[in-house]
Amino acid sequence: MFDPHMLQQDFPILSTPLKSGKKLIYLDNAATSQKPQVVIDAITQYYKRDNANVHRGIHELGDRSTRSWHEARKTIATFFGATPEELVMTRNTTEGLNMVAYSYGEACVREGDLILTTVMDHHSNQVPWQELARRKKARLEMIPVTREGMLDLEWLERKVKVEGEKVKIVAFPHVSNTLGTLNPVEKIVRLVRAFTKAVIALDAAQSAPHLLINFDRLGVDFMAVSAHKMLGPMGIGALFIRQSLLENVSPWLFGGGMIGEVTKERATFADDLEDRFTAGTPDVAGAVGWAAACEYLSKLDMKKVEQHDKELVNYTLEKLQAIPEVEIVGPVERVKRYEVRGKRCGSVAFLYKGVHAHDVAQVLDSEGVAVRSGHHCTMPLHAAFGWAATTRVSFNVYTSKEDIDVFVRALGKVKEVFEK
Ligand SMILES: Cc1ncc(COP(=O)(O)O)c(C=O)c1O
Repeated sequence: MFDPHMLQQDFPILSTPLKSGKKLIYLDNAATSQKPQVVIDAITQYYKRDNANVHRGIHELGDRSTRSWHEARKTIATFFGATPEELVMTRNTTEGLNMVAYSYGEACVREGDLILTTVMDHHSNQVPWQELARRKKARLEMIPVTREGMLDLEWLERKVKVEGEKVKIVAFPHVSNTLGTLNPVEKIVRLVRAFTKAVIALDAAQSAPHLLINFDRLGVDFMAVSAHKMLGPMGIGALFIRQSLLENVSPWLFGGGMIGEVTKERATFADDLEDRFTAGTPDVAGAVGWAAACEYLSKLDMKKVEQHDKELVNYTLEKLQAIPEVEIVGPVERVKRYEVRGKRCGSVAFLYKGVHAHDVAQVLDSEGVAVRSGHHCTMPLHAAFGWAATTRVSFNVYTSKEDIDVFVRALGKVKEVFEK
């Protein structure tokens, strides 16, 4: 049985009391998740036992480290339904999306072309496109968000029909980190492919911790993720690249490890994708830790992880809908039992009437409840809806319904404090 209370025991930080002596109720998982002991151990063991640089040393440790790196890459690729050849290690989702802009966009986008992203995207999936459009004198437009917090697919359909092959890149999030909206990837892919030859880049930062993802089946061309949001360490992530596109993607970081041959004048680059995009020493310990996180999640079974998230989202919506001062942002429909996937995933953000989000977060913090307040790196979305800031609770495998109860009780304090 999937029991978040049991899982909490795997995460040492969750049983470390706060300065106040209160128990930590960690509901800031969309910012970063906590790490289970198996991930901490995998990283420690790597440094204790196997540490050496990869691909370089002809000695036992060099061999062990290189093997650890390759095994970790294979585990991570398999977790996402991809092959190791399709996986480029990055520092995080942000770097992955920038890589698409530099490694692919730089060569394929020309003056007057159109790049599409969305109003609901994280700045990481907006600013790289703004910069690319500026460099290439291309146009950038953002798919609007409906009142209900969904992507306006009618707008998208009109746009791709009118612009056709002028559209070169379409980038969007699998799950919005503010609205919690779960976007219908396959439907968007079909729509874009019907009228354009654009490549499709998916930001899967917020879906990877909660959903069973199969890169191949999603049908996108690029997919970026971060390890730290899915129980892995900070400082490592991946960009998945569709096999048929590999020839069209150029390296964007240059130096040791990624070359074929170097003369005084120029260099050729490694044929092997993994080497070509790994300039300099990679984060082997990070990869080993991330692979341990993937194995931990696989053992839990991602279908159960997804079901657990669905229940938490429903439960939180139900509790918040009963509080008159609270206005939930994003889709408010609860997921029906028989639905495979609903309209949202991972988090619930809200406005509290008459109280700034930072004040709400501070009151919650005084009760041991860690949440995020602010614009969550989605300023254009906040501007579009006229919100100064929102408060967000977000979940992971160790989040229990009792944690939500503590949060809701703590929210009661907001009224007490601000009605005085
Ligand atoms: C939807 C989304 N995309 C991208 C990012 C950026 O992730 P990272 O900081 O790991 O690069 C985040 C981080 O919160 C996010 O929520």
